[in-house]
Amino acid sequence: MKISVRKGRLVDAKSEAVILSLLEGEKKLSGEALAIDKKSGGLISDFLKHGDFEGKPSQVSVIYNRGKALSKRIALVGLGKPEDVNLERIRSAFSAVLRHLSKINVRKATAAIDLSLKAGAKDEIAQAAVEGALLGLYQFTPYKTVSRDEFKRMDELIIFATTKDYALVQEAAKTARIIAEAVYLARDLANTPANEMTPSILARKAQTVARKRKLSCRVLNRAAMKKIGMNALLAVASGSNEEPKLIILEYRGGAKKTAPLVLVGKGLTFDSGGISLKPAEKMDEMKMDMAGGAAVIAALQAAADLRLPIHLVGLIPATENLPDGRAYKPGDIIRSYSGKTIEVLNTDAEGRLVLADTLAYAARLKPAALVDAATLTGACVIALGEEVIGMLGTDEQLKQDIRKAADKTGERVWELPLWENYHEQIKSDIADYKNTGGRPAGTITAAAFLSKFVGDFPWVHLDIAGPAWTTKDKAYIPKGASGVPVRLLVEFLRGRAKQ
Ligand code: BES
Ligand code: MN
Ligand code: ZN
Repeated sequence: MKISVRKGRLVDAKSEAVILSLLEGEKKLSGEALAIDKKSGGLISDFLKHGDFEGKPSQVSVIYNRGKALSKRIALVGLGKPEDVNLERIRSAFSAVLRHLSKINVRKATAAIDLSLKAGAKDEIAQAAVEGALLGLYQFTPYKTVSRDEFKRMDELIIFATTKDYALVQEAAKTARIIAEAVYLARDLANTPANEMTPSILARKAQTVARKRKLSCRVLNRAAMKKIGMNALLAVASGSNEEPKLIILEYRGGAKKTAPLVLVGKGLTFDSGGISLKPAEKMDEMKMDMAGGAAVIAALQAAADLRLPIHLVGLIPATENLPDGRAYKPGDIIRSYSGKTIEVLNTDAEGRLVLADTLAYAARLKPAALVDAATLTGACVIALGEEVIGMLGTDEQLKQDIRKAADKTGERVWELPLWENYHEQIKSDIADYKNTGGRPAGTITAAAFLSKFVGDFPWVHLDIAGPAWTTKDKAYIPKGASGVPVRLLVEFLRGRAKQ
């Protein structure tokens, strides 16, 4: 969908549908809503008077006006009570109204965004509205071959802004589009099944993203990894016929000599569990075990498109985890890239192994901050549910920055402790560490394991096992891969860019 921003009055624009957002309990119409109400001979105020529309969060009503106002339809969307309005409500409302309009075959709509809402700064409000509109309309359709002409789609959303706010809205809409495109990319990558999203294909996608921008992309293949001793990553890959790839993206938008921000994303293009095979039920969902990696590629795309003045590196260890005659086995001991030895007790705890080598590699870059995103533990879904990211880390300032970005974007995080006692659980009798600490506190012991490979750099680990995938449609996240935590990462990077 194209987003256009125009100067002028909404009431004077002709369109298939004009979108108006209203607060709950709003008795008196104002601004563009009032102007359109007058022009339509009081259609909106009548509608409200009869109680058809209460302005509840994301409530949508469409009024047909027979030629009085310039738009064929007036689409009302609720924002809820004024004191409860926030950016998340705005994203959800704009998603709801655009989804509704696209379902009834509207292709082009006009809207004004109420920038006086007490939800945030003006540019944040405008960005949230456009983001919600775009994110909610996402569809994953490359594999549908039948009745493709019946797909619904919106072509254009035209936003009207006052002369005073025009530049600001224009800029916010551009930012929102770049971020939504990045989320779309992450969703596409994670929704694509494993037969068409192998480590090699993922690496090629990263290269394509890089080629079109001021990004460099290097890919280490199996031989290159062997040479430098990335044996934990290679062990996980040993049961697969697909060659593992370590994807290295770099964006230099800042001064050359500054320490980089480094993002690491787990890139299991399929996780069967390996010899410690997973049950058949829902194993198909493990095609999205590269959601963290997808988010990192997307975040680098957005950083480059937004021209953020930062030095940023993205690292994605990509492989499959499969059982085979050559597969690694429970009991195996691996000498990892860091030199530390790992006893494998469960080949399904593979994410922490590929991350161990990648985090140790990242540490060599002496990062100013290191953030990893991984669908790491089922335990995190049990602890925090399907909507919240588990956060663990070693640096208070970095955790605070991530928390701020999470609250702003609605990709929420909740911190779990990394206390000393948990580290006991991953000590091995015969190696330095073992790759599982048993069932208790599974998310924490996984993070404790990762911490052994990070060194002293400010580090945060995001366990996205819950929110990476959704089994039901959410406000602006259709069923399937969610694109979490792309918006959180980009918001974090924008914050660092301002420092
Ligand atoms: N990719 C899975 C974690 C996962 C589970 C992500 C469900 C999303 C939804 C990970 O590799 C895994 O299998 N973890 C094991 C660890 C255990 C063997 C210590 C798990 O959580 O069961
Ligand atoms: Mn696994
Ligand atoms: Zn996994």
